[in-house]
Amino acid sequence: MIKKKSVVQTFISERFSPLTFSDKVISKEDIRLLFEAARLAPSAFNEQPWKFVYAVKDKPSEFNLLLSFLVEGNRIWAKNAPFIGISLAKLNFDRNNKPNRFALHDVGLAMGGLLAQATSMGLKVHQMGGFSAGAAREGLGIPDDYEPVAMFVIGYYGNPDDLSDDLRKRDQAERKRKPLSEVATRASTDKF
Ligand SMILES: Cc1cc2nc3c(=O)[nH]c(=O)nc-3n(C[C@H](O)[C@H](O)[C@H](O)COP(=O)(O)O)c2cc1C
Repeated sequence: MIKKKSVVQTFISERFSPLTFSDKVISKEDIRLLFEAARLAPSAFNEQPWKFVYAVKDKPSEFNLLLSFLVEGNRIWAKNAPFIGISLAKLNFDRNNKPNRFALHDVGLAMGGLLAQATSMGLKVHQMGGFSAGAAREGLGIPDDYEPVAMFVIGYYGNPDDLSDDLRKRDQAERKRKPLSEVATRASTDKF
C-alpha cells in the first residue's frame, strides 16, 4: 500500500529520458518484469492491442537490426544502451475487425506501466519517434494490421561526462512542463 498522498510518487517523478547509459546489462528476470508491467495495462474492450519486439546487446545481429531503424541523431547515443525495443499497435479490434481508435492510446498506457516499473527498479527508458517505420516494417516483417508506434532503449544511467558537449547539455537540461492550469481545467462550455 502506498502511503504518501501529498507528493507525486517517486516512480513517476524520478523518471527522465537519459542520453547516457552504463554498460550494466538488464537481467532476464528484470526484462520479464518490465513487460509484465506493460501487460497489466488497461485497454478498450480489454483488447490489449500492444506488441513489443526487443533485442539485447548480447545478441548483436538482433540489436543492430533494431538500431538500424533509428535516425542518426538517436542512434548516436541509443547504441550505448543494453536494450532496445519497438512498440507496435494492432489497429483493428480482434472482436469485429473494425478500426480500434484507442489502439495508440492503449499502447501508450502499456508503455506508461513499463516506464513506472522501470523507474522503480532503477532503470531508465528513452522513447524515440525518430525512426523509419518502413524500415522497421520490412526488417521485422511486421504485418499490415500492426502499426510501428515508438522505439525505446532501456538501461542504467551512465556518466554524462562520456557525452559530447551537445548531448551532455541535453541530458542535463532542466525538465520543462506546461503549467498545471493549462493541462487540466474544470468543464465549461465557453472556455477551452
Ligand atoms: C513518443 C515519443 C517520441 C520521442 N521521440 C524522441 C526522439 O526521437 N529522440 C529523443 O531524443 N527523444 C525523444 N523522446 C523523448 C522526449 O523528448 C522526452 O520524453 C521529453 O522531452 C520529456 O523529457 P523527459 O522524458 O526527460 O521528462 C520521445 C518521447 C516520446 C514519448
